[in-house]
Order: sequence, then C-alpha cells, then structure tokens
Amino acid sequence: METSSATIGVFDSGVGGLSVLHHIRRTLPEARLIYVADSAHVPYGDKPAAYIEQRSHTLTRFLIEQGAEAIVIACNTATAAAAASLRTQFSLPIIGMEPAVKPAVAATRSGVVGVLATTGTLESSRFAALLERYGEEVEIVTQGCPGLVEQVEQGDLNGSRTRELIARYTAPLLVRGADTFILGCTHYPFLAPLIRDVVGEGITLVDTGAAVARQVQRRIQSELSTRTKSAHPSTGSGRTDLHDAAQFFTSGDTEAASRIMSLLWGETVVARQLPIECL
Ligand code: DGL
Repeated sequence: METSSATIGVFDSGVGGLSVLHHIRRTLPEARLIYVADSAHVPYGDKPAAYIEQRSHTLTRFLIEQGAEAIVIACNTATAAAAASLRTQFSLPIIGMEPAVKPAVAATRSGVVGVLATTGTLESSRFAALLERYGEEVEIVTQGCPGLVEQVEQGDLNGSRTRELIARYTAPLLVRGADTFILGCTHYPFLAPLIRDVVGEGITLVDTGAAVARQVQRRIQSELSTRTKSAHPSTGSGRTDLHDAAQFFTSGDTEAASRIMSLLWGETVVARQLPIECL
C-alpha cells in the first residue's frame, strides 16, 4: 500500500460522511476513495446498536471487496455501535470518530461545552467513557438532535424547518452558558453556516473531520512501514485497474443520492447501487 495511492473505504448512514471525505481528500489527494452512503437505513441515530453493528459489518465487507486497504467509519453513531467489533473481525486499519470533547474542553472560556449529536451517540458507553476522560474540568451539556440528519439528507441546509430545529436544539446550550459547541455528527458540519447564523459569532464550533483525516494518514503510513519491514508487499486484492479518484455507492435511491451527493461533494457524483446482498 503506497501512502499516495492507498484505497480508502469510507461509510456513513448517509451523506454526512462526505464532510469527512472532504478532509481525507485534502490530506491524501492521491488516495483512491470509495464512499458508501447507507441511505436506505438512514438515520442510524435512533436505531438499536445491534442493527447499526450489522450494517457496519456488511458495508465494511463490501468496501474490502472493492479493494479498500483502510476503513473510515465516517459516523459517530456507527463508531460507538460497531468500531470495537469491526476491529475484532477485520485486520485492516479501521479509523472511527467520536465527538471532539478534548479540543472543545481546551477551547472553552466559559467552562461550558455543548454537544450536538444523535441520541445513539449520546447514549453510548463510548461517549460516557469520553466524558469521564475529558469532561472533569468543565460542564458538558448534551443535546440530541432528532430530525437534523434528515434535513441534510434532503439537501435542506438553510431552509426554515432546518433553522427552526437548530434554534430549538441550540437554545438550551446557550441558556446554560456554553460558548463551544461540538458538532458530534458528521452531517452537522454541512449546517455550520446556518448554526453560526443562529447562534452568532461568539460561539466556537468544533468537529473532528480534519483530525480523522490526519489519523487516516498516520495509520496508512504506519501500516506501510510495518509491511516494508516484514517484506510483505500489498496484494491490493480486489482492486480494479481503473484508478477512479472517488467512487460513490448507496443502498438507497441512486438518483436522489447522486443529486444530494453532488451538492455536498461539490462535483458531479454518479452514485451506484450497492449489490443486493448488501441492501
Ligand atoms: N452521520 C452520523 C453520525 O455522525 C449518523 C447520523 C444518523 O444517521 O443518525 O452520527
């Protein structure tokens, strides 16, 4: 696996993970990227952890079959539900993500941090462990945001319904004196301009997309040096000869997915359907 041309598989419940994919492309411009939006099963946020775990295994298997040499779980909810079992099952690097509590704790001046995330993430033991680790010195106020992911999935990034939901979910954090908001779901960075408009300039917004991309780069480099030392060249199994810079798949409607992905990716995207056994 050469760092420059590694194949990286990325998945999310829907289009939110594209916010992470942007950072990965910036950090590793030569990498071949394969993105899967599990659109037929979005949102993950209110589904049982076992369900999300099963979907995550199916999508990871698919990405490996497509030649992925590292997997990025571009979803806080799926990381909480499935990262541990994916790492047990598969031997390639699996990079997950979690709400940016540590940087938010470092950034707050008021001593109050707000976390916007899905119910699944906020109720997970992984998030509880994160709070225990970093949340001692400051007050952390959490807020589940039902409905917000669906707004992004529809491409409604600044309509009145989206604004109304953002106002409803950020108000309790503002009342408690939070000056730093964690965007703890990968869909939310696409709403950052509207969130900023609703809460004003004085609030710091933090997310983990850039940090995850750096972590992907580190993992790929260290994997490469391990392989070089043990003289086991990559087989690149399942990799096609065609080097497409990015390929996109969905478990949902391909036309709708192509439309919204093109909007959020900033280039024309033609999303392909996942094979039937992955639906
Ligand atoms: N984008 C995902 C996350 O980071 C999941 C959102 C959902 O499907 O509920 O949590």
